[in-house]
Amino acid sequence: MAESFSKIEGTKEDKYQHLLSQVKAVVEGECDMIANMANVASMLHETFGFWWTGFYRVLPVSSAEKGEQTLVLGPFQGPLACTRIKKGKGVCGSAWLREETVIVPDVDMFPGHIACSSLSRSEIVVPVKKDGQVIAVLDIDSKELATFDETDKEYLEAISRLL
Ligand code: SME
Repeated sequence: MAESFSKIEGTKEDKYQHLLSQVKAVVEGECDMIANMANVASMLHETFGFWWTGFYRVLPVSSAEKGEQTLVLGPFQGPLACTRIKKGKGVCGSAWLREETVIVPDVDMFPGHIACSSLSRSEIVVPVKKDGQVIAVLDIDSKELATFDETDKEYLEAISRLL
């Protein structure tokens, strides 16, 4: 477990580099995925001041229907969010279906975008994979247009591989 969390000034890349080493330290000392997701959401949110930062986990729709899966809200920072998202729905469900990161510069231009908050303007969703399977997605929303680019994709994918 990292002794403490510290923020640094600098470019986006500088901040991600610093964050990556802090995430490594946190995750190394803890094997529980939810605890690690909670700390990663917090560290990303604190570092960049995003509007919403959190995880949706891939879980069975119900214990009676073991085959069918859905995204269920996990650890997050920010305002209240919708709890369940079906495969292929919204940006989160699309990233899960495509098994790849989806960057949305303007949420109004994304057909089927799920507006948990009307203040969200741009978004990135990164699949979290274990043994080749998507087990969760990391979803980040910004109040500004076009916040996310290839740098965010690269570092957020690196962070998701540490979980
Ligand atoms: N906008 C997401 C829904 C989740 S919230 O942003 C927290 C989507 O379209 O999947």
